[in-house]
Amino acid sequence: MKPTRVKEPTVLVIFGATGDLTRRKLMPALFDLFRQQLLPKLIRVIGFSRRPLSQSAFREMMKKAVSPKEGWDGFAKILHYHQGTFEDSSGYKKLAARIGKADRDWKGCINALFYLATPPTFYKQILEHLASSGLMEACSPQEGWTRILVEKPFGKDLASAQKLDRKLGELFREEQIFRIDHFLGKETIQNIMAFRFGNPIFEPIWNRTYVERVEVRLLETLGIEGRGAFYDGIGALRDVGQNHLLQMVALTAMEPPASFEPEAVRNERVKVFQSIRCIEPSDVGRYTVRGQHSGYTDEEGVSSRSHTETYFRIKFFINNTRWEDVPFFLESGKRLDRDLTEVSVFFHEIAHHLFPHQPKQFEQNILRLRIQPDEAISLRLLVKRPGIAMQLDPQELRFDYRSSFEERFVEAYEKVLLDCIAGDQTIFARSDGIEASWEFITKIIHGWQKDGAPLHVYEPGSSGPKAKDTLA
Ligand code: BG6
Repeated sequence: MKPTRVKEPTVLVIFGATGDLTRRKLMPALFDLFRQQLLPKLIRVIGFSRRPLSQSAFREMMKKAVSPKEGWDGFAKILHYHQGTFEDSSGYKKLAARIGKADRDWKGCINALFYLATPPTFYKQILEHLASSGLMEACSPQEGWTRILVEKPFGKDLASAQKLDRKLGELFREEQIFRIDHFLGKETIQNIMAFRFGNPIFEPIWNRTYVERVEVRLLETLGIEGRGAFYDGIGALRDVGQNHLLQMVALTAMEPPASFEPEAVRNERVKVFQSIRCIEPSDVGRYTVRGQHSGYTDEEGVSSRSHTETYFRIKFFINNTRWEDVPFFLESGKRLDRDLTEVSVFFHEIAHHLFPHQPKQFEQNILRLRIQPDEAISLRLLVKRPGIAMQLDPQELRFDYRSSFEERFVEAYEKVLLDCIAGDQTIFARSDGIEASWEFITKIIHGWQKDGAPLHVYEPGSSGPKAKDTLA
């Protein structure tokens, strides 16, 4: 089913238009949406950045970011460049005049969407200028809307996330604020809810009585890919733990929402974060393992004495009736031996061993929701091996996404942009959820800062520091 195309004229302003995120994710997503005729019929995409660039130089730069290029000329016509510095109000005033002109050209009231794709250090300035220049005001209360899209990282810890949220709350209404976690836009992440709440056979066993433990992993072979200056002050836990991994936990552990309305779904996700039992800084040695791959400190932009983690494994619990005492594990790392993003649910072993030749190490049924790279759902079962003897063997029941459907996958950023244009906040993070997740993560970071858990060095291409095996 094709989503309804927004009819009202719309302007999308991207702050940080010459940056990495715009080139790698936003332009390809916008171009694809354009080619599928899913963007509003009347739309202008305005790139706002410091660099002095002509319109055509900007278009050429963006063209390099997409492939294939068929249909580019039509798309290029909606692309515009606006030079301005984030700290100087004149750039915003000129932008307001430009958007006002679009109002007049299109003889109507336009919608305006502002995307913060800059380093977070610029957020405060941009937000204040957006508010003071009147750019965030719709042309009338009845017509047109203005929205703001905020990229992660949403703060560096609990205090800075609260500060950013206070700033947003002072300037904008909650329904205008779209806090992005692009993982929630991924097909296979959305499928976690479809799988859990569309198939009633799993609900009775989705709890502490049947589940022994849950593992949520995001393992990457890539390193920091030239992002040293950003990553070194952040580390793996803030980069993907506070957001992507915890959102996967939320979808796996949440209660069924009363409806598929955005607030009903967001309420249940947030309740999971609020039920996580925090790990006190003094306990990080017991519940966490952190590592840094060798060679990390030689990367450009990274301090030679850096203590930033590129790997972590964390064991924690969720305090509620469904999950009390079931360990959840979060694991992620750069430069590991494989690419894998997955939620694995391990069920309790059988209570009574009936078969003499049952392989002990494979006794658990394991349900794997593979997010990437090979999107699938599989269930490990024991079956009888052909032969005279009653010998059991582990095999997999498997559903493979790509071979089961012909439709193309919608890229996460396409979904993020379209849902924001449609005003649907389901896949966006909410401030109370962000606060609860930062509370959990900040305590761990404090424990690490006090050297509560050693920083283990691991070899690139390995499965991570050996110490991770002690955290079971
Ligand atoms: C980003 C992180 O948010 O997510 C990266 O900053 C990480 O470090 C990436 O590699 C993973 O997302 P995806 O969609 O590329 O799997």
